[in-house]
Amino acid sequence: MSKVLVISTSLRAGSNSDILAGSLIAGAKDAGHEVEQISLKGKEVKFCVGCLACQKTQQCVLNDDAVWIAEKVKNADTLVFATPIYYYEMCGQMKTLLDRMNPLYPSDYRFRNVYLLSVAAEDGETTPKRAVSGLQGWVECFEKAEFSGSLFCGGINDSNEAADKEKEQRDAYEFGKALR
Ligand SMILES: Cc1cc2nc3c(=O)[nH]c(=O)nc-3n(C[C@H](O)[C@H](O)[C@H](O)COP(=O)(O)O)c2cc1C
Repeated sequence: MSKVLVISTSLRAGSNSDILAGSLIAGAKDAGHEVEQISLKGKEVKFCVGCLACQKTQQCVLNDDAVWIAEKVKNADTLVFATPIYYYEMCGQMKTLLDRMNPLYPSDYRFRNVYLLSVAAEDGETTPKRAVSGLQGWVECFEKAEFSGSLFCGGINDSNEAADKEKEQRDAYEFGKALR
């Protein structure tokens, strides 16, 4: 049993990636994992200012929601990031959050497995590749962790559309069930 943290990064009402994260969470819970979900909706996550003070202090000089989110990330076994694809990449708020996790780099972080769930209007094989690659780059910097897999659900655009997508919901559930 793992402590799983799911971070939903879409800010949209009726977010498709949020809906599918819900199916993923159901699967993860059925597999016996302890799951916590954080949504970035209504949170303040400022841009990293690049001072690198955190590499000495393990604390950020900024004071916003990224500080407590970093603490949750640090203490989870398994991380799942859910993102809409924006311009063939992860959304900007997810990237900003990843940058703000820099205080964890010199820390004794617990997470070992990192996953990505992405959703886009297009259903191309390569649509999510830069988002996957971006998260892989982040994971590479955390040597005790590994990028453990990704699920892409394409062909979903309008808000709440994922609520009617039974196959994708099933895929997300099974993906959640197979988390480590
Ligand atoms: C700024 C922006 C950029 C987008 N770029 C892409 C894209 O490059 N490829 C694509 O297939 N869909 C793109 N989309 C569509 C979203 O990925 C799609 O609406 C998705 O369902 C949104 O997920 P969400 O409801 O969880 O936010 C974009 C949407 C926005 C708002």
